[in-house]
Amino acid sequence: MLNGLALMLLINCASILKNVLAVSITTGLFLLQNRSVTQQQRGAANGISMSAMSLFKAIGPAAGGSLFSWAQKRQDAFFFPDI
Ligand SMILES: *[C@@H]1O[C@H](CO)[C@@H](O)[C@H](O)[C@H]1NC(C)=O
Repeated sequence: MLNGLALMLLINCASILKNVLAVSITTGLFLLQNRSVTQQQRGAANGISMSAMSLFKAIGPAAGGSLFSWAQKRQDAFFFPDI
């Protein structure tokens, strides 16, 4: 229902909040991971977690998109109607 400057400011605030949360989550997980393995294992743990993160970043939007388009086709269903 918004438009113009108000819409732009709201979208910007939402974007800033999203980025702050993403960086906080990433940093927090780095700290937890740093403490949870020994120094000799730190490189391997970091590599495994980076690979897993990239994999899920690639799969996430595709899986979400197909789920969304599937739900759009069954507007009157009992389960997942139109999401
Ligand atoms: C990572 O962990 C080591 C000990 O396990 C600690 O000395 C170091 O300060 C930690 N680094 C960070 C950024 O927390």
